[in-house]
Amino acid sequence: MKTSQYSNYRAILLSLPYLIVFLSFPSPSQSAKPKCNAQDKKVLLQIKAALNITSWIPDIECCDWYGLECDRNTSRVISLAIFNNDISGQIPPAVGDLPYLQTLDMRKLPYLVGEIPPAISKLSQLTFLRLDWNNLSGPVPSFLSQLKNLYFLDLSFNKFSGSIPPSLSELPNLLALHLDRNKLTGNIPESFGNFPGNGKTPDLFLSHNMLTGPIPRSLGDLNFSGTIDLSRNRLEGDASFLFGKSKTVLFVDLSRNLFEFDLSKVEFPENMTNLDLNHNKIFGSLPEGLIKMQLQLLNVSYNKLCGQIPQGGNLQSFDSTAYFHNRCLCGAPLPPCKK
Ligand SMILES: *[C@@H]1O[C@H](CO)[C@@H](O)[C@H](O)[C@H]1NC(C)=O
Ligand SMILES: *[C@@H]1O[C@H](CO)[C@@H](O)[C@H](O)[C@H]1NC(C)=O
Ligand SMILES: *[C@@H]1O[C@H](CO)[C@@H](O)[C@H](O)[C@H]1NC(C)=O
Ligand SMILES: *[C@@H]1O[C@H](CO)[C@@H](O)[C@H](O)[C@H]1NC(C)=O
Ligand SMILES: *[C@@H]1O[C@H](CO)[C@@H](O)[C@H](O)[C@H]1NC(C)=O
Ligand SMILES: *[C@@H]1O[C@H](CO)[C@@H](O)[C@H](O)[C@H]1NC(C)=O
Repeated sequence: MKTSQYSNYRAILLSLPYLIVFLSFPSPSQSAKPKCNAQDKKVLLQIKAALNITSWIPDIECCDWYGLECDRNTSRVISLAIFNNDISGQIPPAVGDLPYLQTLDMRKLPYLVGEIPPAISKLSQLTFLRLDWNNLSGPVPSFLSQLKNLYFLDLSFNKFSGSIPPSLSELPNLLALHLDRNKLTGNIPESFGNFPGNGKTPDLFLSHNMLTGPIPRSLGDLNFSGTIDLSRNRLEGDASFLFGKSKTVLFVDLSRNLFEFDLSKVEFPENMTNLDLNHNKIFGSLPEGLIKMQLQLLNVSYNKLCGQIPQGGNLQSFDSTAYFHNRCLCGAPLPPCKK
């Protein structure tokens, strides 16, 4: 799957519950707006007070408030989505008292601070949790592993610190895990090898943190189907086991780490389109197999590679910066090898 197809797939997944509800009520009831549930309204008023959401006006039906969506049948709040807003404060624990919430989406709120409250773990229906581009801090809570229906978890672009909780691998339906652009330390948990193996391994976005150590061998037993982005950390050692002819991963970014392994004998997944290995300590030569791939991006610059760049495929379509700053790579688009 290409990126666009992949995001379509996500969009369909995301809209599916609403689509089903919609299709099952094509009759007059469709035009009747759901009437706000009294219990939900009480909780929403607590959230309004905690975050100073001035646009939520008590006299108006709460299902019509900005950022809210109610189930057409039950009229319970199923989605809370607030973007690009200057609301300030912490995520109020009251959010955990919206028991039918499926989507919690709060992003680009520069004044949203503090930790993720444990009350979030009460949201057993939650499938989509996106809290990116805020100023949240504290740990990535291990209680998130209790949200068994989650298929999308995005905490990127915040100030989360501490290590990645191993329990996240207990989320059986996860399709994507975004923890990138935080201040996370420690290792990638060994338990991540326990994610579902074939076709259902979540895309992993862990870039721009301060993760250290080797990546767990067990990740090599999984078939990632989209992306592995571990760039800009301090990860070290071997990563060659992420590759292999029969793997299904499409995008691999390991750039700006301390990886150190021999590239010469690595076999790449046949459908992989993006491979960024720049700024590591990778040695050996570029394998011939690269010319058989439909690569859209290749960058092996700033490593310790040697020998002739294989001639063919897409390899000469990248400019010399894709290859420069290695020990002794040569041949187009770099200068010819010395005879
Ligand atoms: C709430 O927001 C309004 C409008 O943005 C602002 O005038 C007011 O000072 C805020 N109140 C608090 C307690 O932050
Ligand atoms: C609609 O709501 C009623 C009462 O809450 C419930 O019994 C029924 O299963 C719901 N139907 C659907 C399709 O969700
Ligand atoms: C976090 O807050 C700082 C100011 O304290 C602001 O400059 C920055 O843009 C905020 N981050 C995000 C992602 O909104
Ligand atoms: C990965 O998927 C491919 C294609 O579906 C399959 O041939 C291969 O055996 C799988 N490998 C693993 C390690 O699951
Ligand atoms: C690569 O893509 C082709 C065509 O879509 C597909 O038939 C094949 O199974 C894919 N290979 C792997 C290892 O996923
Ligand atoms: C490869 O990565 C280096 C280092 O980040 C960058 O300077 C260069 O522009 C990149 N080249 C290509 C073709 O991606």
